Amino acid sequence: MLAEVAAGRPGMETLALDVSDAESIATAAADVLARHPELNVLVNNAGVIIDDDPTAPVDDDELMRVVSTNLLGPIRMVSAFIAQLRSVPDAAIVNITSMLGYAPLARSSLYSATKAAMHSYTLSLRYRSGDAGPEVIEIAPPYTQTALQAVNLTDPRAMPLEEFIAETLAAIEAGEPEAYVARARERRDAQRVDDIGITTWFNDLMRSPRLS
Ligand SMILES: NC(=O)c1ccc[n+]([C@@H]2O[C@H](COP(=O)([O-])OP(=O)(O)OC[C@H]3O[C@@H](n4cnc5c(N)ncnc54)[C@H](OP(=O)(O)O)[C@@H]3O)[C@@H](O)[C@H]2O)c1
Repeated sequence: MLAEVAAGRPGMETLALDVSDAESIATAAADVLARHPELNVLVNNAGVIIDDDPTAPVDDDELMRVVSTNLLGPIRMVSAFIAQLRSVPDAAIVNITSMLGYAPLARSSLYSATKAAMHSYTLSLRYRSGDAGPEVIEIAPPYTQTALQAVNLTDPRAMPLEEFIAETLAAIEAGEPEAYVARARERRDAQRVDDIGITTWFNDLMRSPRLS
């Protein structure tokens, strides 16, 4: 898909990368750094979500797929590029986490847990990067109309993608290290006051019938 997008855009290149595979990351990083020694931005966007039930035995293959894509993957990507990003000016790492890292969706407990862990890791990464950089930006989207799950594209509770992009870019331009849209900031702030209460409120809301 991305290769097709790139085909119509001179200057845009693509390469194969499976972030759940440490070897794939090492190969892709070596390739990118050889072709682009000036590289100064890493965006950790890849993610997968599944439905699971923490009150039943876990499927180990599914557990590993979610954890290796959403948590090990971005950590390994940072590891592969951190020396580069510390050596060039105006460098940035952008980690895409989720509001589900704040108020978990109980029917996607594994996904929610990986995003909570990535939020924590991102705080440490920003603190340790300090003024020397790279700048560390976290984007924690709310439920948004993307292809993450088929239901996202049809559910009116999901934020329209164009609105999400416009608000997020405005937050980045404003210099927000946590470049969250307004509805995400509200949930984050409520969660800090009452995490059990907001988890109940959110999961009751999401229990209404799925629309597709
Ligand atoms: N949409 C939401 O409601 C929402 C809310 C909060 C957070 N997020 C986060 O936003 C990020 C982007 O997701 P999206 O909503 O835009 O959904 P999406 O359209 O499904 O995008 C997810 C992307 O991750 C890639 N990916 C999955 N596994 C991968 C792997 N092992 N290696 C490399 N790439 C992989 C997919 O590539 P392929 O298509 O090639 O498989 C796809 O391009 C994710 O981190 C997601 O968790 C989304």
